[in-house]
Amino acid sequence: MDEALASLAAVEQPALLEETKARYLGKSGLLTERLKALGKLPPAERPAAGAEINRVKVALEAAVQAQRERIAARQMEGQLQAQALDVTLPGRGAGTGGLHPVTRTLQRIQALFHSLGFDVADGPEIETDAYNFTALNIPENHPARAMHDTFYLDPTHVLRTHTSPMQVRYLEAHPPPVKVIVPGRVYRCDSDMTHTPMFHQVEGLWIDPAATFSSLKGVLIDFMRRFFEQDELKARFRPSFFPFTEPSAEMDIGCVICHGEGCRVCSHTGWLEVLGCGMVHPNVLTPLGIDSEAHVGFAFGLGVERLAMLRYGVNDLRLFFENDIRFLKQFR
Ligand code: PHE
Repeated sequence: MDEALASLAAVEQPALLEETKARYLGKSGLLTERLKALGKLPPAERPAAGAEINRVKVALEAAVQAQRERIAARQMEGQLQAQALDVTLPGRGAGTGGLHPVTRTLQRIQALFHSLGFDVADGPEIETDAYNFTALNIPENHPARAMHDTFYLDPTHVLRTHTSPMQVRYLEAHPPPVKVIVPGRVYRCDSDMTHTPMFHQVEGLWIDPAATFSSLKGVLIDFMRRFFEQDELKARFRPSFFPFTEPSAEMDIGCVICHGEGCRVCSHTGWLEVLGCGMVHPNVLTPLGIDSEAHVGFAFGLGVERLAMLRYGVNDLRLFFENDIRFLKQFR
């Protein structure tokens, strides 16, 4: 019996186990043989021998069952190990997202003007030509309309070519004093290295006795210095023309790339044109019922992508809109 138990305990394969079991307990197994041979024993010995055979049979059956369970357990363990997940391994990482550089720039512009006391408003991208042009002192057939390559939706609706129509809309809803910026998308039928059909502007409007031309300069110079984190940034204002401001100016800042040495970005002039501005024209205020003698103020409009390109050193505007993940990743 010891030999039988030992050979059962050594079996690892389920099929072998059944074979071994048959060798002892099967129809022509050793134990069955003994049982058959019982009849040949002297009658006096039969009960004891029979009991002994039965004892061995029960023990062997128990051993078979135990070995079956051991094999099954070992198999399960092997399977578990093979399929094991090491939860302590570092993950592959989902990768963090990030804000688009234009969004980041917009947020930065808003935060800076907010700190100077400007509210933030927004307005419709589909405009009537009345708001986009007429109310801004650009009458029909005025050559200034040709300055804007306008997308017309129908004879009276356009995709706004600038955020300036919000000067009018905002003043309609808020009597002066007002101090507001309006960030948003604008559209022009134009596309090359430095122009895309859609881009972003931030309009500024401050109507208040304090909003003089010198505070226009102060606000915008302060903004640019803080935006580019250059305390000594130079600025200059060149006379210009916009129908809705008088006087009008364009603001240049010292080149933030070469600091005035001359480089490709500033076309070797040392200066960068960054925005248009001026004192709000009486022809904008009067039709709104605002007394232009009593109320003065200034407006400005800046290009967001332009500032983003300068701040991040991006040389092709189109990169902002192609959404190549390798480009965008750098701004996480
Ligand atoms: N709207 C003008 C443009 O898009 C910019 C501007 C805004 C100029 C406000 C003066 C005052 O070119």
